[in-house]
Amino acid sequence: MKKRLKIVKRFEKREKSNYPGFKIRDIFARSHLWKWAWGVGLISSLSLVFLLPPTSEITFFNKLGMIILITFFVIIFFIYLWRFWVQFLIPKPLSLCAILIISMALMGRIIILLPQVSNYFIPIAFLSILGSLLFAPSLSVLVTLLFSILFSINAASLNLMPVLVMGGIVGAYSATFVHQRTDLTKGGLYVGTSNVLIILAVGLLANYSFDHWDLLWGMGGGFFSSILALTVLPYLETYFGITTDIKLLELGNLNLPLLNRLSIEAPGTYHHTIMVASLAEAGAEALGANPLLVRVGAYYHDVGKILRPHFFFENAGTGKNNYHDKMAPNLSSMIVISHVKDGIELAQRNRLPGLVTDIIRQHHGTGLIAYFYREALKERGEEKESIHEENFRYPGPKPRTKESAIVMLADSVEAAFRFSAQKTLKGIQSQVKKVVNNKLKDNQLDECDLTLGEIARISDAFVRILAGVIHTRGRYPEEMLKSQSVVG
Ligand SMILES: [Fe+2]
Ligand SMILES: [Fe+2]
Repeated sequence: MKKRLKIVKRFEKREKSNYPGFKIRDIFARSHLWKWAWGVGLISSLSLVFLLPPTSEITFFNKLGMIILITFFVIIFFIYLWRFWVQFLIPKPLSLCAILIISMALMGRIIILLPQVSNYFIPIAFLSILGSLLFAPSLSVLVTLLFSILFSINAASLNLMPVLVMGGIVGAYSATFVHQRTDLTKGGLYVGTSNVLIILAVGLLANYSFDHWDLLWGMGGGFFSSILALTVLPYLETYFGITTDIKLLELGNLNLPLLNRLSIEAPGTYHHTIMVASLAEAGAEALGANPLLVRVGAYYHDVGKILRPHFFFENAGTGKNNYHDKMAPNLSSMIVISHVKDGIELAQRNRLPGLVTDIIRQHHGTGLIAYFYREALKERGEEKESIHEENFRYPGPKPRTKESAIVMLADSVEAAFRFSAQKTLKGIQSQVKKVVNNKLKDNQLDECDLTLGEIARISDAFVRILAGVIHTRGRYPEEMLKSQSVVG
């Protein structure tokens, strides 16, 4: 009997946990309790860092003052996030923020406590460089300002504040000019130089009251910040799944093994990819979307074709062997559709970021492979009902971001341009219009928030690039002739 009761109780417990209303996690998410928990946790951790170890010099009111300051710090930061960067108010970015803020507080506090090390060595630019790369420069500048106030009050040194403020801002700005990881060391040089100049300026203002060693500590603090940021950045990118511009710039290197393989094993696809990338980049620039993400996404969008390159028209050459001739249309369409799945697998194996993988996954949406569908209908003749359209459609999902939608449009426009005999400006304009309208009619752009005005701007950008291509092609022989006559 007891055993049975136990089983019933266990069953009831399981039922309760299956019912969504009973999940503690859900209650937390719905009531935004976790945001409060995050705020209170951050205030407590910062208070502990700034008030430990306890000394007899610190009175109760000193402690209270520090806690009030820290509470204001967290409230201002939270309001700024809520007002301007609401996309970061989700658990992962908030935990990353908390990790960065607490580790900065710890480092600063240790340096303030160590009598052998100057306070000018505080690596505030570590926080501002990483904040700028992983979040946004403006957010990073705000945290830098708040920390500069906290550190200078904690170290009882007013001279420290301008050095930290300027060093932090220079660090945040320098991170926006970074094109490769090693550029971060240049950032260290800029921060170090700013530290030296401000220490000098503050010293001169206070009637030459500074230690010459402080200049060296200031320079060292700049370099230490950048080296530390350079070391931890890859781990943070990987663990928190954040795609920084540095990562995208690295992935845009055409000599990387995967792209190199594409150029050798599927040269037609490779050239298609390069053209799609320039179209998509122009489209993204016209819109204010992320041109770097779009370019890199376009480079990798058809990478899955590496596995069976000859089944794709662009690699089939002038047609000695058309593999699809001997195959049933539905088998052909299955092979063509599989390049999306293969691309996702290759992307995951090569650890491409989620944003790029999403572009691979969404670049055909749920589009129809019209050619094989028509072929199948033709083959079946009167038994058309046995052909299901959905078997000739990509599995999707449809593009969910503006960047994915731009790559989808650029991809289709490039394919249409390649196989079209129309090479006049008017011809290109009507062709681009037709391709875009087809995507709209097929509801492929329903899930990304592109407006009709934005779609028109993207189309104009495509026409501009394609017009450039035909003009160059038109002029080329003439120019060649001229240059040859000059040489000859
Ligand atoms: Fe594709
Ligand atoms: Fe493509």
